[in-house]
Amino acid sequence: MAGRIPDSFIHDLLARTDIVELIGSRVEIKRAGKEFKGLSPFTSEKSPSFFVSPQKQMFFCFSSGKNGTAISFLMEYDRLSFVEAVEELARRAGVEVPREGGNEPRVVMDGPLDALAAAQRYFTERLRHAPAAIEYLKKRGVSGDTAKRFGIGYAPDSWDGLTQFLKDTRHAVDAGLLIERDGRDGAYDRFRNRVMFPIRDTRGRVIGFGGRTLANDPAKYLNSPETMLFHKGRNLYGLYEARTATTGALPYLIVVEGYMDVVMLAQHGITQAVGTLGTATTREHVQLLFKSTAKIVFCFDGDRAGRAAAWRALEQVLPEMQEGRECVFMFVPDGQDPDSWVQEVGAAAFRAALDEAASLTQFLLESLIRQVNLGSLEGRARLIALARPHLDKLPAGALRTLLVDELGRRARLGRNDIESMLGAPKAAPAPVAENGAVQAPTPGTSRPVRRAMQLLLERPALAESVDHIELLAQAGVQGIEILIEAIDYFHAHPGAHAAHLAEAWKDTPKGRGVARLLSQDLGVGDDTLEIEFRDAINLLTFKALETETTRLLEESRHRELTRAELGIIDSFHRSRPPRSR
Ligand code: UTP
Ligand code: MN
Repeated sequence: MAGRIPDSFIHDLLARTDIVELIGSRVEIKRAGKEFKGLSPFTSEKSPSFFVSPQKQMFFCFSSGKNGTAISFLMEYDRLSFVEAVEELARRAGVEVPREGGNEPRVVMDGPLDALAAAQRYFTERLRHAPAAIEYLKKRGVSGDTAKRFGIGYAPDSWDGLTQFLKDTRHAVDAGLLIERDGRDGAYDRFRNRVMFPIRDTRGRVIGFGGRTLANDPAKYLNSPETMLFHKGRNLYGLYEARTATTGALPYLIVVEGYMDVVMLAQHGITQAVGTLGTATTREHVQLLFKSTAKIVFCFDGDRAGRAAAWRALEQVLPEMQEGRECVFMFVPDGQDPDSWVQEVGAAAFRAALDEAASLTQFLLESLIRQVNLGSLEGRARLIALARPHLDKLPAGALRTLLVDELGRRARLGRNDIESMLGAPKAAPAPVAENGAVQAPTPGTSRPVRRAMQLLLERPALAESVDHIELLAQAGVQGIEILIEAIDYFHAHPGAHAAHLAEAWKDTPKGRGVARLLSQDLGVGDDTLEIEFRDAINLLTFKALETETTRLLEESRHRELTRAELGIIDSFHRSRPPRSR
């Protein structure tokens, strides 16, 4: 047994501890006069009767009758033994627990947590005596400091190294450290000849391990099995280390895939990385992350698997995107992972890439756009259909608004059109005329659009005079997307006539619309045709500027506008509504 902890040390330790801070990090308490008050963490009471006194440095729980010091709180709340509670406070204060008569290792086995803590001591101790493992870590660039910070250890190449060390195997089997022998007494070591990464819970307690083989074991990494304490889908590697590396709120957390990614980023000063332990990101992971930060950065490999992993993460994140939360995506170059990449390019380049990460909106839309042909109206409608299930998952708020607007820009449709397409259970059927023809784009199409289309069909070279096609799409008037498509077509096919377009669009609703327009009398002379076309386009551009300006002003309330965006607002204020003929 280790020696007694001196009373004077415990006295000092309590003096160094702020009980309000300690309890406040675990239980929600609010100031109420001289004390702090909250709901009892020990009972399920509805009105608060739990008090923490900064003067007395004690807590009082009137619903459970418990009260005491920081040590008794940890014993009750974290379910620690007295010695463990003292050790926890000492760790928080950054001091060593002295023992009367020297520090001997102690193996107390009250439960799986003790077995895990003992195994952690064993693995780190073994690493010191394993030149091959040390050599391996060196080769991978892990410094001694980093190894210490992450508690990296080594499980020797033995079937019973840990088993012998622990003696009492029951809790170690429960903790997933040992495997019971079939039909026989006893157990053997689960982790053999592996570099060991302890996985800690948010309170810093070791709840599992990941072990990387030093041999060529086909299982490169072996993780603790799911136990009462350890659930891969609910824990993140490095979260405790990330939280303790920074005082105060974390500006962001970076989610990576591997143990070595977390460790190597931290070594480069990027201490906010956490690992998903080789599983896909779960909704519980996301919830856990948002408890510690308002911004998640997903950082995956640039290959297909990495993109697929990012996409799965996106799906888990969408329902959690409440107001004020942010999520971005970055990819390391193909063939690299964050570990190898940060070693190659350094922290500054990594941080620069972090700043350039794609927003959730960008990543979502770009992934969907890759699946459609935006050049056609059908493709743009499909884009909206693809986006719909994702938008449905998003809580209402600024992000959803932003996404709908961006979707509109890409699909060249106005916000109202998008909302009505999103809102409808299925794509609404196109209106059918009495003769059975689908009506487009004449009736229902806004007058300037129809007029511009008619003039354009008469003289396709007019397409050249339209410069801001992207902007035009924001005019939010009916049929604008067909006009834009026609302009695009004539841009792409210089010298083409209306007949070419009619042919290209044959047997489509818009083709029938073109045919109808072509059959109508133009009622304008050659001399005024160009002026009239320009008037129509100017009117539409003005409407687009107006819509964009309203949207941008709204957006400027929660972010800074870019120079280009300010330019749009400026053009709007300088433009005059053109007269409509
Ligand atoms: P990778 O295969 O990308 O490995 O697995 P890595 O992290 O780059 O490993 P090193 O650099 O060769 O050491 C990513 C993560 O997936 C989990 C681990 O968490 C690993 O860090 N994994 C991988 C497993 O759980 N088991 C495996 O066999 C392999
Ligand atoms: Mn790697």
